[in-house]
Amino acid sequence: MANSKYEYVKSFESNDKLMPSTWIVVRIDGRGFKKFSEDHGFDKPNDEQALYLMNACAVSMLQEFPDIVFAYGVSDEYSFIFRKETQFYQRRSSKILSVTVSFFTSVYVMKWKEFFPQNKLKYPPTFDGRVVCYPSTTIVQDYLAWRQVDCHINNLNNTCYWMLVKSGKSKREAQDFLEGTQAQEKNELLFQQFNLNYNTLPAIFRKGSCVFRDKVEDIVKYTECGDPVKRSRLKVITYHCDIIEKTFWDKHKHILR
Ligand code: GTP
Ligand code: MG
Repeated sequence: MANSKYEYVKSFESNDKLMPSTWIVVRIDGRGFKKFSEDHGFDKPNDEQALYLMNACAVSMLQEFPDIVFAYGVSDEYSFIFRKETQFYQRRSSKILSVTVSFFTSVYVMKWKEFFPQNKLKYPPTFDGRVVCYPSTTIVQDYLAWRQVDCHINNLNNTCYWMLVKSGKSKREAQDFLEGTQAQEKNELLFQQFNLNYNTLPAIFRKGSCVFRDKVEDIVKYTECGDPVKRSRLKVITYHCDIIEKTFWDKHKHILR
């Protein structure tokens, strides 16, 4: 078909192709989730159901988009790593970002009832997103370590803060009390004042959540003698493990291959 005289408007579009052969990382973050979590009565500092819902959305993401090889989530944020050579939307940044954010948000709304059957969704949740390209596997690992360190610092601090508030301190007093304290002092505060060993808190709170494909063995049938016949396949799973130490990446070399 001949070009119309209006076709020239296309020439105003900018080229937003992401650098080739780089890991594409999309990080989404809940918009105004401080208010959203209050309005929906989330437990403080961590609401287990809210985190499970976030994780379910991430699992759906990996099932929908095979080029996502890994996802890491904490609080109201999730990072998605697309494989280095992905040609998803010809690596167009705006397409990849918008599709990631909109798919995640839709699943969040669709699955809300499953995780909060007694708790009505009062208004539409929104997520923002950004894309960054990383040229090496080491930098991607450092990126993820950065997010997990952040998770640890925030969670330790929030745990102390809410313990102090729940024990009768005002929010101001709790904040002043924690100002400038180091991790070790915070651990001691929890242990001595509240008899709480931080390391016994659920790993999902302390470590965040990792979503990736891992080998699982299914029993497909039983032989006549009753022996199981197994078949291994890749399944999208969620773990709450340490990704700061290199051990994880040595054990799961297939993820960032
Ligand atoms: P913007 O992202 O800038 O729009 O602001 P935000 O209000 O979402 O804050 P931010 O993303 O910096 O931090 C996330 C906030 O979400 C936390 O500070 C908490 O207030 C809230 N939040 C996230 N997860 C939970 C949870 O499990 N329980 C509770 N009570 N609050 C949570
Ligand atoms: Mg947020």
